Amino acid sequence: MLTIDPFTKPPNVDMTLPGSKSITNRALVVAALAEGRSTLRKALFSEDTLAMVDSLRLLGVEIEAVQSEETLIVNGCAGKPQSDGSPLWVRQSGTTARFIMPIAALTRGEVTIDGDEQIRTRPHNELFDALEHIGIGITYQEGEGSLPVAINGEKIHSASVDVSTSLSSQYLSAILLAAPCMPDDMTITATGDMVSAPYIAMTIDIMRSFGADVEEINGNQFLIRANGYSAKDYEVETDASTASYFFAAAAISGGRVKIAGLGQHSIQGDLGFVDLLEEMGAEVHKDKNTVEVIGPKQLKGIETSMKSISDTSLTLAAIAPFTQGTVTVSGIGFIEHKESDRVNAVVAELQKLGVRADNHGDGFTVQSGEPASGVIETYDDHRIAMAFTVLGLVSDGIAIDNPECVSKTFPEFFEYIDQLRLEGDKDLRILAIDGPAGSGKTSLAKRVASEIGLEYLDTGAMYRSVAAMALRSSVDPEDKEAVVSVANNIHIDFENETVLVNGENLTEVIRGPEVNAVVSHVAANPGVRAVLRRTQRSWARKRGGGILEGRDIGTVVFPKATLKVYVTATPEERARRRSLESGRPVEEILQEITGRDQIDSSRDDSPLSVSDEALVVDTTGKTLDEVANEIIGAFHG
Ligand code: CDP
Repeated sequence: MLTIDPFTKPPNVDMTLPGSKSITNRALVVAALAEGRSTLRKALFSEDTLAMVDSLRLLGVEIEAVQSEETLIVNGCAGKPQSDGSPLWVRQSGTTARFIMPIAALTRGEVTIDGDEQIRTRPHNELFDALEHIGIGITYQEGEGSLPVAINGEKIHSASVDVSTSLSSQYLSAILLAAPCMPDDMTITATGDMVSAPYIAMTIDIMRSFGADVEEINGNQFLIRANGYSAKDYEVETDASTASYFFAAAAISGGRVKIAGLGQHSIQGDLGFVDLLEEMGAEVHKDKNTVEVIGPKQLKGIETSMKSISDTSLTLAAIAPFTQGTVTVSGIGFIEHKESDRVNAVVAELQKLGVRADNHGDGFTVQSGEPASGVIETYDDHRIAMAFTVLGLVSDGIAIDNPECVSKTFPEFFEYIDQLRLEGDKDLRILAIDGPAGSGKTSLAKRVASEIGLEYLDTGAMYRSVAAMALRSSVDPEDKEAVVSVANNIHIDFENETVLVNGENLTEVIRGPEVNAVVSHVAANPGVRAVLRRTQRSWARKRGGGILEGRDIGTVVFPKATLKVYVTATPEERARRRSLESGRPVEEILQEITGRDQIDSSRDDSPLSVSDEALVVDTTGKTLDEVANEIIGAFHG
């Protein structure tokens, strides 16, 4: 569970966000089918896109994923995917489940497709009908109409095909994306009411970028020539659905947020969310490559259809209580089939907070009112978690029950939310003390704490506690996900010198040799760092500031700290001091701390480094008092 810290000041920030999920998964499909090698830049790395990458790999497509550069390099199969019979696992990803079906059929063999429980219960009937119409065999392995399913492409042929789009536009996108690699030209007709129409335009735009020949006969009918795709160097736009949370946060708080990588020519319908904010009184500036939202003193209510931008309807619901008047959204009855029964979910959670909200079948109505505090159930739906986080930024005491579910589309969501708090965090009185292993940070922090009237937090003990709990529960420190789960479920209390981990006194254990041996590996795990950083920032916000000591406090946790200090001493001196404290041999300690320093300073995520603005103090040959006085002087100066 994660309690959301409310803003102490409105945000005022220029930021970038990760790439679009919808574009990444479409670009992956077309690059996989293309002839040649494509590079997808600013690609999103999340559960849903990794589901697509894994599935395409199992269809014989070579994909190099360079997460640190947000790049995917795809060696296309020129329209001829191949399967060795391995089943595909789409996790919870709707786009992967749907888009991969016709691609699997292009192998001309049989491929099984399955995924998590959540996707098993989502409907795909209209897509199955269309696939059968073009000769693709469908065998349901458990229940009729749902995953797992075996797709057989032996008899695949081109034909005119109708695809219903009244529940989801993804069915049509799936057929469109595969069409250029079908045996012959195809005429595809959308039937029924069209929901999420901008996603069809997005699909066609991306197809054309990779050389597909798509003719729009009319808004509902497309002629796709069987000319295949050609490889391309392609840049993914910033995710507009994700951006909605950040724009909403600015709109509702009278703040300002400007996001790059999105602009007036965006191919994402969800950017239309800012037009609604404008109608509600926010100031919106759309440029070629940026979009800025400035919140008014008071947002007005609105009555609108969100049929084409339904993913952002949850964002609107979450800020609705703070508008003047009523927010009524229609045209979104179909979202009951998304990751959760969304209208019911959002209405139930708002009601839980004492807000007047109703589901009227086709959408919802929310009245203005001050939400009470409460724990939000996410229904394992990333968008419920993200939307109610925005509500928690302007309302006290909001907690999110399983915050990890944001990983579906945005694993680092909460880290980015912290960028919105930078303005408020500037007012905190923070003394950041960083430095290598055994440099005396804890002794210093304790020594200066009472003099400058701030409490101190030993962040190293937090990493140590996670390592200790991982060891206790026999979790392999190399199993990244399992260790993050340990971090997510840990509760650490400091009572003077005692460290209580989930209620148990682990003061000695966390300083023991087993923990020393693995702590730096655990601390190099970005998921663990994200969880602990959140706790550290929250700790300081509750106290109006504090002394935090660790490795990345001045560089990453509080880059705007009042004073940043980097304390160091020669490794021999550090080992000698630790040996005096513990009675262990100097040599053994020297080896242990230099080993940790090496890992701590070479990891990708927030490595130990000296901030440009830090006061660097070499403590070799100095007494604790001398160093403490130097720091106190600098803090007050
Ligand atoms: O007390 P000592 O200097 O030996 O280490 P510590 O502060 O207790 O930190 C133990 C380990 O936690 C470090 O070696 C780092 O791997 C990790 N750590 C970190 O990565 N970031 C922090 N802010 C604090 C500690």
